[in-house]
Amino acid sequence: MARLKVAVLISGRGSNLAALIAACAEPAFPAEIALVLSNKAEAKGLERALAAGLKTAVIDHRRRTREDFDLEVEAALKAAGVELICLAGFMRLFSAGFVERWRDRILNIHPSLLPAFKGLHVQEQALAAGVRITGCTVHVVRPEMDAGPIVAQAAVPVLDGDTPDSLAERILAAEHRLYPLALRLFAEGRARVEGDRVVIAGAGAPGPMLLSPAG
Ligand code: GRF
Repeated sequence: MARLKVAVLISGRGSNLAALIAACAEPAFPAEIALVLSNKAEAKGLERALAAGLKTAVIDHRRRTREDFDLEVEAALKAAGVELICLAGFMRLFSAGFVERWRDRILNIHPSLLPAFKGLHVQEQALAAGVRITGCTVHVVRPEMDAGPIVAQAAVPVLDGDTPDSLAERILAAEHRLYPLALRLFAEGRARVEGDRVVIAGAGAPGPMLLSPAG
């Protein structure tokens, strides 16, 4: 069966990219990474992509309009035959036009249980709110930041004495399990957007929910 061609878009470290690379390395995984694209030439994740022998592209977002940047990204995606975009620490917002053209074909991962704690300094927000459980979310991208139909979520406990860094690290471990799982649901055609929600077809593992830490 043909594997879904995915682009992973990054701006930095690329640990979620690494998790997706590892998942796609499994012959039975239903997706493959056709392109890793960064808006920053110095993004660490690009080294991981090159080490894995993947095609990479850098498109600098500076000194051009958002629309021009988006058009260049789109040209690179089309040249690589990309069918689905996975944002993984990509620190740019796309224009509404771009998001509409790729409607229901862009996923993002965010380190909270959306719709709680959008934007930046997410762990600080969670600690300030005093929540006992937080986590991460893979969602379908809409023009508004950190909004859109939820594909999968993982719950992560907040522990006494947590700092933003210790909490971020615990959430990141869950992210690395959740993103491949969500991508699999999409690539297998089991996840379908219906209005503002994602419907998952077929019961059984892997489902769209993780409780972490878990086996
Ligand atoms: C992750 O915490 C992700 O949820 C957020 O940005 C971070 C990216 O980390 N959107 P990495 O580059 O994948 O290591």
